[in-house]
Amino acid sequence: MKRALITGITGQDGSYLAEFLLSKNYKVFGLTRRTSTPNYERIKHIQDQIELIPGDLLDQQSLTSAISLSNPDEIYNLAAQSFVATSWSQPVLTGEFTALGTTRMLESMRQVKPDAKFYQASSSEMFGEVQETPQTEKTPFHPRSPYGVAKVYAHWITINYRESYDLFTVSGILFNHESPRRGLEFVTRKISHGVAKIHLGQQDSLILGNLDAKRDWGFSGDYVEAMWLMLQQSKPDDYVIATGENHSVQEFVEAAFKVVGITNWKKYVKTSKEFYRPAEVDFLIGDATKAKKALGWKPKVSFADLVKLMVEADIKLLQKNSQ
Ligand code: NAP
Ligand code: GDD
Repeated sequence: MKRALITGITGQDGSYLAEFLLSKNYKVFGLTRRTSTPNYERIKHIQDQIELIPGDLLDQQSLTSAISLSNPDEIYNLAAQSFVATSWSQPVLTGEFTALGTTRMLESMRQVKPDAKFYQASSSEMFGEVQETPQTEKTPFHPRSPYGVAKVYAHWITINYRESYDLFTVSGILFNHESPRRGLEFVTRKISHGVAKIHLGQQDSLILGNLDAKRDWGFSGDYVEAMWLMLQQSKPDDYVIATGENHSVQEFVEAAFKVVGITNWKKYVKTSKEFYRPAEVDFLIGDATKAKKALGWKPKVSFADLVKLMVEADIKLLQKNSQ
């Protein structure tokens, strides 16, 4: 039985990845940080099948212990301060978690389990102000947020450990991927949850920021398979994972309202400077040709299906919560 350690197992991707690895018969370990109340909402349905190990990206010793205890064949480093907007109000913490946290994980792996395979959660946010379209593994980076800058550091330190110590370390440059388990502060979930509330008469309006930004949005459940595939290859390499299609925030809004039969969405949507960013990433679209060829990966859930499944899941959730 293969063994995997997931950092960030309580997050969106961590929960889908844990499910996916269990379905492949892995023994799954997850790193969780101390909180005053448990935050196992996304993994409670599989909690009896996984083993949680306390630890924090800030604490080197806890990471070394987690790797020692789990003795993993594969390490998936998904933990990070992942919300771009927060990276301006907490830039140092973002650097500590998202950048240096990766070095700490790599260093612990090098000391304790150098033969493990390591996955780093790199991001299309590294492309920022895009230098070419569509973006590939070869597109130069121009990050536009402290988060993006931290991810560029983490990306390069992952490559550096591969080149310096001959470790099996890979980076998946994943474009935005969403699901009903997405945090409520991210735009897609904010919209699906807001639209569901408006539909149920629990909210009058939805306040958003820049409606013109365009993203290449996929489904998280599809993207965790790509992470796993990268670690099944004979050689470590980096891959872009994307749908190859992009849509504006406004298009997401329109599609979400359409799911509940509302066409005059403008009646409900307001914008506020509060949700604009000091520096914006206007346009992202990925070219996942390399992953398609080398990994045989392709996305399964379309944009329209993604919006529909998120809005419907939020309607169900709100109905359940109000019972
Ligand atoms: P998420 O839902 O925000 O989950 C982040 C996870 O990191 C949570 O489990 C969180 O734990 C954990 N974490 C944060 N700080 C930590 C620390 N100091 N020590 C230990 N754990 C810590 O993020 P996601 O959407 O699943 O994304 C997973 C990874 O992929 C992240 O690295 C993100 O930056 C990257 N990424 C995401 C996307 C996307 O579109 N989703 C695209 C590209 C890259 P708590 O539950 O305790 O907060
Ligand atoms: N969050 C949010 N809230 N974003 C808004 C809003 C709003 O009310 N209104 C407009 N937006 C715009 C943002 O300005 C941004 O251009 C876009 O919607 C997407 O924002 P987010 O959903 O917060 O995601 P992100 O693209 O900044 O970052 C996500 O994707 C990255 C990959 O490109 C995160 O998951 C990152 O962790 C990930 O690396």
